[in-house]
Amino acid sequence: MADILHVGIDLGTSRSAISASNGERFVVDSFVGWPLDMVARKVLKRDVLIGHEAVANRTMLDLHRPLERGLLKEGSDKDVEAVRELLLHLLRLVGVNGQNDAANVRAVVGVPAASLRTNKQYLRNSMKGIVDSLLIVSEPFAVAYGLDALLHTMIIDIGAGTTDFCVMKGRYPTEEDQRTLTIAGDSIDTQLLKLIEERYPQANVTVFMVRDWKEKHSFVGEPQSQVVVTAPVKGVPTEIDITNEMHAACETILPPVIETMIDLLARVEPEFQERVRTNIILSGGGGLIRGLPEALEGALKGVGGGKVRYMEDPVFVGSDGGLALAIDAPEGDWEKLTA
Ligand SMILES: Nc1ncnc2c1ncn2[C@@H]1O[C@H](COP(=O)(O)OP(=O)(O)OP(=O)(O)O)[C@@H](O)[C@H]1O
Ligand SMILES: [Mg+2]
Repeated sequence: MADILHVGIDLGTSRSAISASNGERFVVDSFVGWPLDMVARKVLKRDVLIGHEAVANRTMLDLHRPLERGLLKEGSDKDVEAVRELLLHLLRLVGVNGQNDAANVRAVVGVPAASLRTNKQYLRNSMKGIVDSLLIVSEPFAVAYGLDALLHTMIIDIGAGTTDFCVMKGRYPTEEDQRTLTIAGDSIDTQLLKLIEERYPQANVTVFMVRDWKEKHSFVGEPQSQVVVTAPVKGVPTEIDITNEMHAACETILPPVIETMIDLLARVEPEFQERVRTNIILSGGGGLIRGLPEALEGALKGVGGGKVRYMEDPVFVGSDGGLALAIDAPEGDWEKLTA
């Protein structure tokens, strides 16, 4: 019998990562696109494009971001198919060649906590015939497992589509231990775009530009410096100051994130609350917003004080955690997908 390949997959709204027990790790942008027509197919010479290639060629594609808002968009076959293409692509990258190898692959897939309730069946269908055994876990739990932060910690994973919370109590987290908000990177982008358009109606700005600016200059609290970017105004590249807009857009996540964090803390058994408060870990791209740990610590002062830290390797922490889980998971925890 061939060796079993264990993989951990972090299925994200904006990026998806895979870590495999053969030592391979890859990350791709979570975009899948099919050529729009005969011309596009002739230009692209491919049936499907994935990742940043799909984004770069988007004018020629029916482009899907299948996990927008952290959920597979129900009812759309195209999105289920897109997830399947994305998963196949990730597996190919680590050396799994289609259905032949499927029988030897065991995959742990991390998804937003809320999708666990609503989208498990979609995900299962997407994985049929691709892997032998499947274990679906919440994204923040995979992060906690990867960091070995399994007891009296709280993970706050701020991604593109969702912000996921998970309190770790030294066992598999239950529904009460987890929350999902749809306030995250994408909602900041939407807000920032709107604010910039209101202030500079003549400027020509897209959500892709706004996202770039945010990733360079995001902050909450006091600005360290002015945020000045270049945008075309009537076709002429022009410098615009977006300090206030950046501030306002990034701060939109603070009230809901603080409220959920404090609410989850209040549900921890009283004698463990302080330990959890001093062990709060931020992950995900949105966790990189400058000043965020300090802002959350400021809010914790009102409930006895706490410590918030950001973890280092945000790209692979979820998939590495998934891989660690895959290697540790006992036989009975797996779902069999192939007969
Ligand atoms: N330095 C930064 N400051 C603010 N936001 C950032 C920064 N770097 C990345 N982001 C944002 O983080 C988000 C992507 O984070 P991440 O890769 O963790 O998301 P994801 O896992 O794909 O999404 P989800 O977990 O919601 O499914 C995007 O909205 C991106 O713009
Ligand atoms: Mg994520």
